[in-house]
Amino acid sequence: MSALSGKTILLGVSGGIAAYKAAEIVRTLAQRGASVRVMMTRNAREFITPLTLQTLSQNPVATDTFSLTEESQIGHIRLADSADAVLIAPATANVIAKAAAGIADDILTTVLLATRAPIAFAPAMNVHMYAHPTVIENLTRLRTRGAIIIDPAEGELACGYEGKGRLPDLAAIAGVLERLLSTHDLAAERILVTAGPTQEAIDPVRFVSNHSSGKMGFAIAGAAWRRGAQVRLIAGPSALATPFGVERIDATSAASMLSATAQNFQWATVLVMAAAVADFRPAHPAAEKLKKNSRGLELKMAPIADELPRLALKKVTRLIIGFAAETENLEANARDKLKRKRLDLIVANDVSQPGAGFGVDTNIVTLYGTDGIAESLPKMSKDEVADKILDRLAVLRAAKSKRLRAVR
Ligand code: CTP
Repeated sequence: MSALSGKTILLGVSGGIAAYKAAEIVRTLAQRGASVRVMMTRNAREFITPLTLQTLSQNPVATDTFSLTEESQIGHIRLADSADAVLIAPATANVIAKAAAGIADDILTTVLLATRAPIAFAPAMNVHMYAHPTVIENLTRLRTRGAIIIDPAEGELACGYEGKGRLPDLAAIAGVLERLLSTHDLAAERILVTAGPTQEAIDPVRFVSNHSSGKMGFAIAGAAWRRGAQVRLIAGPSALATPFGVERIDATSAASMLSATAQNFQWATVLVMAAAVADFRPAHPAAEKLKKNSRGLELKMAPIADELPRLALKKVTRLIIGFAAETENLEANARDKLKRKRLDLIVANDVSQPGAGFGVDTNIVTLYGTDGIAESLPKMSKDEVADKILDRLAVLRAAKSKRLRAVR
């Protein structure tokens, strides 16, 4: 369940071209169970109508501090008090400057001063405006006072320029709010996640790989960050966007993934190995591109040593979670890997079932722990599976800490 469920989010929309995206922001937050109350500046209403946002949020939109009707329906102080979190998106350079200076000359800026809820700003503006020293200074002032600044994304801007200044994607914005409102049960953890496939070179232009999309591992990385953890994601070749807040390290082959994992192992308190690492690689990759011929091509494949059990020997206080993607004998294979790889938990899925495994957005898994508990989960989204795995991690952590205290 999203940390936004049952929460009231005040969405402040200011007057930049990205204001048209406010409609999608309202929908995204509402889909995650939040009650959204919108307030708009006068200029924002030039880009999108209050009626659109009122219809989507199913709540009245506040536009005017001095309106008799609005004040009688819900006064600006009550509006400020009702918020669990405030999101200003898009935040223009003008609204950022006003907030930094404490100016309260409209409903949005007045509520910013009156609220006790955490505030996140999602700046969106022209690249040169965003780089202007005044804007940088104002954002720093807001940050020092505890506001969260959601870094804009890079790309093509509505003004015709390319660069930093786009409103980040909706999942990132929602993720920041979820982190803000979550209980941070994983705040003490540094979680290293591997995800995606590996590619083993045949020659400089061809490779052997598998169907893994990386979706499950990316979902775990994002969910762990939202629950307060620090997260590093070692990603095999994948087109997926890096989850907001997560530090990404790219790897291509099994060897490069292993070396990145070993390098970051000391840093981590938890290792989640969701990558589909190759078990074989072409024994003699060609230095030059292989030419077509009528005899075909015979590839000799060499085994890739699985270093995971050896790494696990060094784990002490660390927890290690592995995956088993199987097409037969799910339980027996998963339990065998749990033991052989010295894992604390294994997430097993039968990839031959529809709605489970590679490429799709859902998964059907069973979690087997060293605590003997087997938990079969119904088909659910990979985001939901990620949270279930992390719930189990929190339980395993509590048990491990208790055991370690008893030994000392
Ligand atoms: N794994 C890994 N490095 C490898 C091989 C596997 O980190 N070189 C991890 C995977 O990320 C996964 C777990 O080990 O979490 C199980 O992977 P899997 O390929 O199912 O296990 P194998 O030992 O290769 O078993 P098999 O090929 O016999 O199914």
